[in-house]
This record gives sequence, structure tokens and C-alpha cells, in this order.
Amino acid sequence: MKLATRLASGLIAAAAAFSFAAGVAHAEDKQITLGFAQVGAESAWRTANTVSVKAAAKEAGINLKFSDAQQKQENQIKAIRSYIAQKVDVIAFSPVVESGWEPVLQEAKRAKIPVILTDRNIDVKDQSLYVTMIGSDFMEEGRRAGKWLEDHYKNNPGPINIVELQGTVGSAPANDRHAGLIEVIKNDPKFKIIASQSGDFTLAGGKQVMEAFAKTYGNKINVVYAHNDDMALGAIQAMEEAGMKPGKDVSVVSFDATKGGFEAMIAGKMNVDVECSPLLGPQLMSAVKDVVAGKQLPKRIVTNETVFPESVAAQVLPSRKY
Ligand code: AHR
Repeated sequence: MKLATRLASGLIAAAAAFSFAAGVAHAEDKQITLGFAQVGAESAWRTANTVSVKAAAKEAGINLKFSDAQQKQENQIKAIRSYIAQKVDVIAFSPVVESGWEPVLQEAKRAKIPVILTDRNIDVKDQSLYVTMIGSDFMEEGRRAGKWLEDHYKNNPGPINIVELQGTVGSAPANDRHAGLIEVIKNDPKFKIIASQSGDFTLAGGKQVMEAFAKTYGNKINVVYAHNDDMALGAIQAMEEAGMKPGKDVSVVSFDATKGGFEAMIAGKMNVDVECSPLLGPQLMSAVKDVVAGKQLPKRIVTNETVFPESVAAQVLPSRKY
């Protein structure tokens, strides 16, 4: 090869290497856009979850597009479709209910946009429709509540009549907190669920359902099993208005372990709060970055949680973050 030709090909190779390196740097620098479809603003838990997601996105330098579905699946589907149309890098959502997600998730897959589930799981055959699911094990939470009941009533021959305030119909926490309880108490005939109705995870819903339960079952009720703190707090109000003594005549079992739940335990109106952490933002953002970087993630990332009986409430409350 002549000197001039060798020089020219050297220059071309150097230019190509430079532009490749610049391309990589550019890809690394490019800000990630995340489309997040939130359930709504139904509870103190949800408010804390939204704050966690927004703060973590800011901290991680991720451009967050946020939507509130007002507890309606059709709104979440619309939000996901709009994120697909906007060609975001990653979609994350906390599904209102478990079923009915295949069509929209197929659309995301065809558009090559990875999907991360947070908080609530979905029921789909094709597991390739999402990358990972980050959140609590609601079934285990239900079991923990059931074990607390077994222990609390171990010297009581029963019957122990339970009224259940369920979360949103068809949602993973409502389905699993019910199933987890049943799994534990099914072989102990002294426990009976005498009534079960949805209060949609809201304080107003819990109060309304409990007013009806108090009228129908009155002092036959031994336990209120509320699927979250907001409904438990509503039920406490309803019981007090009906002349009942929550936390004393009636055991109140709840989920989330919010500050409101702790205050009710300190006031002697709630007996146990099974923890469900909403502080998922930092884990979500790190998963988003990993997915964009092409790293493999475990299919399920379970949040570390515990149970708080009323005896520890006063000591623990000052360290609670939500
Ligand atoms: O999915 C988590 C549940 O949803 C929380 O227990 C409840 O408070 C919220 O609304």
C-alpha cells in the first residue's frame, strides 16, 4: 500500500473510532424517560408511594412522566398507550387490578419498551410482558395477620367472628390478603368470616361498610380485618359512633403501618398493623437504569417487611417515614 493510501485509511479508522466513542458517551449521557402510571390517591400509603417515586426519579436524574389513574384500569391503559406513543424508554406501573393487561402490554412489547411492575402484581400467562415486579408479598402479609390472630386467641375457644373490609375488588392486595388469612385459619373452625365487603382502600369506604356491619352484626363482631389503614381508621370511627370499643371489645387488624395506623395503636384502638412499604422509588429507579443498561434483573424483587403489634407502637412511631 502506498504511503498516502495508508495515511488515508489510518485517518478514516481514527475518525470511525472517535465517532463510535462519542456515540457511546452520548448514549450514556442521554437522560432516561420513564412513564409511570400510578393507581390513584386513595390512601396515605399511595400518597407516600407517589412522593417516593417522584423524589427518587429526581435524585436519579430520570425524566419522569407521571399519571394518576383515579383507581380506574381504563385510565391506566390510556396512560400506558400514551407513554408508548411518546416512545418513553421504560414504562412502570402499579396495576389497579390483576387481570386484563395482555393487550396493552403486547403493544408495549411490540414497541420494544420494557415494562416494570411496582407494588401490585398482574395475572398474565406470558411472563415476557414485563421485566420484573418490585413490591410486597401480599399473601405473606395475610398469613402474618392470620398468625397474629391465632396467637392472640389461642386461649379463647371461640367462636371468633371476623368481618373483613376488603380492598379494591380484583386487586392483588385484596385477593392475596384475603387468601393469606384463609390459608392460616382454614383448619381452625373457631374462626369464621361472617361478612366481607370492599371499602376500596379508602377511609370513607371503610367507614360506610363498617356502619352497615355494625348495624347487622353488632356485638357478634370480634375482629375487624381491614385490608389497609385508611379503611381501618374509617371502621374505627364507625364503631365508635355505634357505641363499640375498637381495640378493646373488637380487635382491629390492619395493613400498611402508616403513621395513622401507629397513632390508632397508641390510642388503643388498633391491635396490630402488618407492614407494607410504599417506599419503592429508589429500587424502581435503580431497576430502570439497569434495564436501560441491558442488565438482567430478577423476575421478582420482594420488599422486606415486618409486623407491628400495638405494644411496640409508641417506641417505633418516631422512626416511621410514612
Ligand atoms: O397496593 C398497596 C395497597 O394499596 C395498600 O395497602 C393500600 O393502602 C393502597 O391503597
